Amino acid sequence: MANIQDVAKHAGVSIATVSRVLNGTARVNAEVSARVHAAIEELQYQPSRAARALRANRSTIIGLLISDIQNPFFTTLIRGVEDVAQRNGYSLILCNSDEDPQKEQHYIEVLSAERVAGVIIVPIRENQRTLRLFREREIPVVSVDRRIKDSATDAILVDNKRGAHEAITHLITNGYRRIAIITGPMTTTTGRERLEGYRQALQDAGIAYDPALELCGTFKDDSGRQLAIELLGLQSPIDALFVCNNLMMMGVLDALTARHLRIPDDIAIVGFDEMPWAALSTISLTTVTQPVYELGSTAAMRLFQRMQHPGTFTRQEIVLAPTLQIRSSSRPRMHPASTTVNLTSR
Ligand code: RIB
Repeated sequence: MANIQDVAKHAGVSIATVSRVLNGTARVNAEVSARVHAAIEELQYQPSRAARALRANRSTIIGLLISDIQNPFFTTLIRGVEDVAQRNGYSLILCNSDEDPQKEQHYIEVLSAERVAGVIIVPIRENQRTLRLFREREIPVVSVDRRIKDSATDAILVDNKRGAHEAITHLITNGYRRIAIITGPMTTTTGRERLEGYRQALQDAGIAYDPALELCGTFKDDSGRQLAIELLGLQSPIDALFVCNNLMMMGVLDALTARHLRIPDDIAIVGFDEMPWAALSTISLTTVTQPVYELGSTAAMRLFQRMQHPGTFTRQEIVLAPTLQIRSSSRPRMHPASTTVNLTSR
């Protein structure tokens, strides 16, 4: 496909002259302008979306506001967004809220003041009133990984409840009965839906509900460590633990190792989020894997649809499937529990 350099060369003028002709930003001699238009015709040159946006004085930058830059889950998500943005001739401004409402608010103000072309956000709360700044400036927004409770914002998500349900059903099938969970904040749909999946699986198997086995962390490693210590201190020991994200898993493994507990002989473990080291033989961790790159790329594709056809679409929710990656951290229990359960699938 011809580019602006080809047009300039073909018309025998500078790139600046071609862009002046295209943008009409300065007077160009009629004969030269005709030569440029002829070259555009002959080469069938089509200015990139970015060039068109520039000429229309619209930004060619999109904003990506994530909740935790230290979490490797988001690096892959960012890559998915960036690849689609690049393909469309757009650049990315990356912002990190650190799960902090003030920081999130600040970046929402910055991105709307910058009049970026569109925004992808990992909201730290479901009840978001701060997005109105974008609506006032007609800046399209797509939420990713977590849902926002409003009628306008598209959401690209993973089926967290299903992922958690499959993980717990797998542990029950392998003979575990006293299964605890460390989930994320209840202000996030991910934290809440993973808990729902856990509860549903226990209920479906007819296993009694014990609130002492449900703890909510911050999606950060130190809360994983702290809450694991709390669970290990329970009168009646747990035989398995479901940890609802990668960073909290780091903290949990730290606490278990410090107590010389063997996985799965002393306690079986399943995590949410695949981690590069999970497959290592020394760890061999069963995880609920999320299609993270696809989350990012799908969110960006949806945003470009909205940017290209403003006001055309109704709200859409795209829910991607997680996969249970089974490894030895949850292998069948050495001495299956005596209690019988109902494992007919839902
Ligand atoms: O936001 C933290 C967590 O939510 C990540 O680890 C990943 O699980 C995401 O869905």
